[in-house]
Amino acid sequence: MAGRRTASTTCAQIVLRWLSLDGSPEDVARWVSLLSPDELERARRYRSSRDRDRFVAARAQLRLVLGSLLDTAASEIALAYGPSGKPFLADGGLEFNLARRGAVALVAVTRNEHIGCDVERVRREPPVDGVAEQFFTSDEVQQMRPLDESARVPAFFRGWTRKEAFLKANGVGLAGGMGSVEVTLGEHEPAAVIWCAPRFGTAADWSIVDVTQVPDLVAAVVVEAPRAEVADAARPPWWLQP
Ligand SMILES: CC(C)(COP(=O)(O)OP(=O)(O)OC[C@H]1O[C@@H](n2cnc3c(N)ncnc32)[C@H](O)[C@@H]1OP(=O)(O)O)[C@@H](O)C(=O)NCCC(=O)NCCS
Repeated sequence: MAGRRTASTTCAQIVLRWLSLDGSPEDVARWVSLLSPDELERARRYRSSRDRDRFVAARAQLRLVLGSLLDTAASEIALAYGPSGKPFLADGGLEFNLARRGAVALVAVTRNEHIGCDVERVRREPPVDGVAEQFFTSDEVQQMRPLDESARVPAFFRGWTRKEAFLKANGVGLAGGMGSVEVTLGEHEPAAVIWCAPRFGTAADWSIVDVTQVPDLVAAVVVEAPRAEVADAARPPWWLQP
């Protein structure tokens, strides 16, 4: 993220789209035609054809989502990259982030606010306690400790996705330090940033939205605004209304 900005004082309205990344050969051919030369070069570097096609599917459908919101042809969307690789629109207009897990991806878009998302598959391996000891703050580890395993595993993935989405919103990726943000983990507590390192502003600058529409997957979206809501067809975001 290029420098800190003043956090929004309004409610961020977020457009979310789930993407399916396994398409027919015809789909893949159509998606390839939408990519830029640098994206095609990156696609070529994948050793596995399945991984290559999923990258192509994610990039092309990201372009289609952004193109429909900006009323621009998908192939004409110009992407640029931050110092840690976060893609952004070279000409501005919207903020977005993407997360991929296997055959699905999540795209989160907002008008002005820094945004990040993460998707993880809930699984028992590796044992979550050891990973939490290494990457979570001591207060987060304390939040997990009293829970039995059936509650501790989802609490861990809730925490992980919220923390990673926070780092992605800031454009720093995991190198930004999972310990530089503390989040709520409880199933029945509101999703929130409890504390963050001062270089990321204050906890009140940030909102978390849980997104759990796909079985076995847990996803979180973090946005730099004191409040956030997910828009839908019945309630389109203010920034799409004529
Ligand atoms: C960003 C990061 C957390 C993603 O982790 P992941 O769980 O493997 O992947 P996800 O599916 O959640 O996200 C991948 C998407 O996030 C986006 N992304 C890439 N780098 C990003 C960053 N620094 N911040 C936010 N989003 C980023 C891209 O859209 C990427 O999709 P793509 O691979 O199709 O281009 C991880 O790759 C990371 O820490 N990257 C930073 C590396 C770095 O510091 N590099 C410095 C030298 S370039």
